Amino acid sequence: MAHATHLIPLFIVIQLFWRATSSHGHGHGNTTDSSYCHPDQAAALLELKQSFIFDYSTTTLPSWQPGTDCCSWEGVRCNDGGGGRVSVLDLGSCGLYSYGCHAALFNLTSLHYLDLSMNDFGGSRIPADGFERLSKLTHLNLSYSGFYGQIPIAIGKLTSLVSLDLSSLHNIESAEITNIYSILHGDNFLVLREPSFETLLANLSNLRELYLDGVDMSSSGEEWSSGLGNAVPRLQVLSMVYCQLHGPIHSSLSILRSLTVVNLKLNVGISGAVPEFFTDFLNLSVLQL
Ligand SMILES: *[C@@H]1O[C@H](CO)[C@@H](O)[C@H](O)[C@H]1NC(C)=O
Ligand SMILES: *[C@@H]1O[C@H](CO)[C@@H](O)[C@H](O)[C@H]1NC(C)=O
Ligand SMILES: *[C@@H]1O[C@H](CO)[C@@H](O)[C@H](O)[C@H]1NC(C)=O
Ligand SMILES: *[C@@H]1O[C@H](CO)[C@@H](O)[C@H](O)[C@H]1NC(C)=O
Ligand SMILES: *[C@@H]1O[C@H](CO)[C@@H](O)[C@H](O)[C@H]1NC(C)=O
Repeated sequence: MAHATHLIPLFIVIQLFWRATSSHGHGHGNTTDSSYCHPDQAAALLELKQSFIFDYSTTTLPSWQPGTDCCSWEGVRCNDGGGGRVSVLDLGSCGLYSYGCHAALFNLTSLHYLDLSMNDFGGSRIPADGFERLSKLTHLNLSYSGFYGQIPIAIGKLTSLVSLDLSSLHNIESAEITNIYSILHGDNFLVLREPSFETLLANLSNLRELYLDGVDMSSSGEEWSSGLGNAVPRLQVLSMVYCQLHGPIHSSLSILRSLTVVNLKLNVGISGAVPEFFTDFLNLSVLQL
């Protein structure tokens, strides 16, 4: 009897202790081994940090320190239970400067979300090789980052992409037309020629949002919209302001019934009547031509 009365509380204490430690381990992701930063990921991020110049930036990434958990660094998040691999890198609007996009980025192969918008990659090219390694990307935002020249085919290999923003035109809503000419002819901007728009989109069938404001697509001729419907049937947002588009809006767009926003402003070469099928798009709330 005496033994039993002592055993019961001890059993409860053990239970409580077990619960406390296990809920600590599983409840707070950052204390479990599986979500602590993988060393390869930290190495890649630190190498990326070294490629940045912080003279005009809003942050110096002070939390990015060797020997600490990279999953808790500024702008970084890791996969839940994914072995401490980086799934989110959000360095948008940090004002970082770099002579080009460092290849260490492409070792973060578990990235789902990458935002490098509103930084300054010094008029460099988007690297021709590397982005294809980020095959899990669903969100890619490289807008207003001072990239110049041809958009590489590597972007067209990111078949999981849901949202792609490569806009290179600043403050389009407030800019006057005369300003836009000076912005574009004074500044760097992106081009879609080889690969063409059609080739870039051919395998991006999951795309919901596409922003290419200010990208020079003048070499697409009148064909720019002919393959769009079949290539990206789930598209909800199509924004291609000042892309130097020509010709009529092709009937292939009539498939895109999920469209909520169509913004094709400042493409003086677009001709023909506004297609009637737009009136059948029940969710269309913005149409700018
Ligand atoms: C880990 O989680 C605990 C509890 O939620 C929190 O107090 C701590 O700040 C976190 N540590 C890091 C490095 O994020
Ligand atoms: C990237 O990965 C490759 C191959 O796994 C490795 O050789 C290289 O050192 C890594 N670079 C960085 C910066 O982590
Ligand atoms: C991309 O980043 C810019 C600047 O931070 C932002 O305005 C834009 O909404 C982002 N694009 C998407 C598709 O979220
Ligand atoms: C799209 O997929 C087809 C078939 O797999 C392939 O031949 C083509 O090269 C792909 N295009 C791009 C841009 O990756
Ligand atoms: C329109 O929006 C509603 C509500 O968001 C959605 O359920 C529906 O599927 C959309 N229609 C199309 C054609 O995408």
